[in-house]
Amino acid sequence: MAFRTDQIFPYSLILTIFVATCSLELIPQNEGTEASACQAPENFPRDLELYKGEFHNWAEDLIVKGLWNAVPRTPTEVLKLVNWAYQHNYTIRPSGYMHTWAPTTVVKNTTECQHERVIVMKTNESLTQMKMTRNYPFPTVWAQSGANMGNIMSFLEENGYGFNASPAPGPITLGGVVAIAGHGTGIPAVGEIPTPGKSFGSISNLVVDFTAVVWDPKEDAYVLKTFQRSDPEAKAFLTSMGRVFILDMTLRVMSNYNLRCESRIDIPATELFADPKTVKPETRTISKIIDSSGRMETILFPFTARPWLKIWTVSPIRPFFSRATRQPYNYPFSDNIPQPVAAMASNISNGAWELTPAFGELEYDMVVSGLATSFSSDLWGPSKNLLLYIQATTLRLTENGAAILTSRKNIQRVIHESFAFFTKLVQEYQAKSKFPINGPLEIRVSGIDNPGDVGIPGAEAPAISPLYPVNANIFFSEYDVCIWFNILTFPSTPHAIEFLQRMETFFYETYNGDYALIRPEWSKGWAYKNNTSWSNDEMLQETIPKSLPHWSYSVATYDKYDPHRVFSNEFLDILFSA
Ligand SMILES: Cc1cc2nc3c(=O)[nH]c(=O)nc-3n(C[C@H](O)[C@H](O)[C@H](O)COP(=O)(O)OP(=O)(O)OC[C@H]3O[C@@H](n4cnc5c(N)ncnc54)[C@H](O)[C@@H]3O)c2cc1C
Ligand SMILES: *[C@@H]1O[C@H](CO)[C@@H](O)[C@H](O)[C@H]1NC(C)=O
Ligand SMILES: *[C@@H]1O[C@H](CO)[C@@H](O)[C@H](O)[C@H]1NC(C)=O
Ligand SMILES: *[C@@H]1O[C@H](CO)[C@@H](O)[C@H](O)[C@H]1NC(C)=O
Ligand SMILES: *[C@@H]1O[C@H](CO)[C@@H](O)[C@H](O)[C@H]1NC(C)=O
Ligand SMILES: *[C@@H]1O[C@H](CO)[C@@H](O)[C@H](O)[C@H]1NC(C)=O
Ligand SMILES: *[C@@H]1O[C@H](CO)[C@@H](O)[C@H](O)[C@H]1NC(C)=O
Repeated sequence: MAFRTDQIFPYSLILTIFVATCSLELIPQNEGTEASACQAPENFPRDLELYKGEFHNWAEDLIVKGLWNAVPRTPTEVLKLVNWAYQHNYTIRPSGYMHTWAPTTVVKNTTECQHERVIVMKTNESLTQMKMTRNYPFPTVWAQSGANMGNIMSFLEENGYGFNASPAPGPITLGGVVAIAGHGTGIPAVGEIPTPGKSFGSISNLVVDFTAVVWDPKEDAYVLKTFQRSDPEAKAFLTSMGRVFILDMTLRVMSNYNLRCESRIDIPATELFADPKTVKPETRTISKIIDSSGRMETILFPFTARPWLKIWTVSPIRPFFSRATRQPYNYPFSDNIPQPVAAMASNISNGAWELTPAFGELEYDMVVSGLATSFSSDLWGPSKNLLLYIQATTLRLTENGAAILTSRKNIQRVIHESFAFFTKLVQEYQAKSKFPINGPLEIRVSGIDNPGDVGIPGAEAPAISPLYPVNANIFFSEYDVCIWFNILTFPSTPHAIEFLQRMETFFYETYNGDYALIRPEWSKGWAYKNNTSWSNDEMLQETIPKSLPHWSYSVATYDKYDPHRVFSNEFLDILFSA
């Protein structure tokens, strides 16, 4: 990664000096068993929980050992921690389940005591309260930012409410999801009746008010400030990658509803992703599936012909052939990987890259037999049980994240072109006996962040959400959908980043605003260069900022409310410098 190491050394120097000079004053909060070379942070508030832990991201290719973790239990403790950090030149990194691939929490592998002056603020253990609230003329839920999305959705269900769409895993925090503009899949089916609170954009776009920790020059301290969604500054906070800290928020919700989810494993990718110029009336394209059901996802394993296609349909009454399900996560075979698949996965990630085509076949077979034996190819029930379908035990892969905004009439064109380029690239590498991509290609289609969805006069879309409307005036915007294109592979697969960089170059050359526009999916991989992710300076400092109209405004807002950069890291310093 292109981080400047000179930013790291002064910190370790300072740390060394403190370790040498402050000893007896230190709070003896330590991990106990392991005799540590590192001392606890100086003058750390005695009543705050602090422990030494390890940061590891989802793909386990970003690991920081011996990092101090604080667990504030109340808003007062949060402020105490942040003000202590400000006074002692520490940075604070909010952290939930560490499911993000991008280095927005911590930036690079570091061994014990080698990292900078950073405290990870864990939210998911203690800042988890939630309640239904009635401050608006529509139903809302208030939750602290460490609350787990799955728990929020269960709580909503008990109260008769739900979300129109959500990310697929449950154990991710609301704060983490809002920070990266988390999304699900789906746009309105043709003829679908708009119901109040139904939004096809990101979770960030559902926020009606929130409380953040901000710098107050009058108090000379960090304080809590509540923002209404109508406040123009709110738009900078509602996707920030942790450049600000949101303590709690209120979200607009909708009346709960029932969904059906059908899985298909019989339609060839060439048919689903067919060129719209050549389709026949009977061709089963993604575009047609979306017109009839609105919500779909395809998972295409490497070197296989037919994706696992999920189609969700709003279905008030259980269709005759659907199985009613009482809980989420109905695909046990993809969450608890069968032994033969796990064995081959392990061989591949240990270097048997040429097993990739056989691995793709094995995974496809696993889905075919898994759907049959778990009776999960046609499910129906309350929305949450169909919207949550990935658990943390699924394969640990890395992935790129491309959000391609376009208009509904161009969905099939963009998917076809992207798939054709992807296929050509895979074949080019295969011809040289190279297998950079050993995980699936996943495609979803969502709506954009229409600020009208939230029902607050004056609301603006979250400014750096990839779903920010392309035309400032939503009513004249041509771009009403977003295609999420994710390519998964094991970390450290040779040529993988090079492959993803070529894919990214294709996206940026092709979707530059003519009939589609590409932006990064923040939580995943982007800005590739020289075999590393998140390192392409031109992308970080020019291309990406230019693709979002309120970028500079957002950066200025972060600097206004956190001038001391307590909530930042070396990567965010580069990204948010433009
Ligand atoms: C298997 C898997 C499947 C996924 N599926 C989807 C999906 O379907 N849709 C989707 O959109 N995403 C998906 N994601 C990505 C996921 O939604 C994001 O990575 C999300 O940020 C994870 O939440 P977390 O609690 O782990 O956040 P973390 O990774 O802990 O934090 C993410 C970022 O948010 C910041 N942050 C955390 N809390 C706060 C706060 N209170 N205030 C401000 N900043 C904060 C952190 O500093 C960090 O920069 C998936 C990830 C995995 C691993
Ligand atoms: C970080 O550590 C992980 C786990 O040991 C490793 O797979 C990865 O390659 C390392 N990354 C870098 C940039 O060294
Ligand atoms: C923090 O940094 C400032 C400016 O570099 C310095 O003056 C101050 O002494 C530092 N304080 C601590 C506690 O390190
Ligand atoms: C909080 O997240 C950590 C990972 O950072 C996890 O180990 C822990 O189990 C989570 N706690 C809860 C209550 O979910
Ligand atoms: C994985 O590698 C081991 C050791 O080489 C071998 O015995 C085994 O058959 C391989 N398994 C698969 C599924 O390729
Ligand atoms: C990227 O990595 C591949 C091997 O995975 C290597 O052949 C290539 O030279 C590398 N490219 C750069 C620019 O370092
Ligand atoms: C990337 O690779 C090119 C060519 O190998 C080299 O000229 C350039 O300095 C590298 N950039 C970085 C940031 O490593």
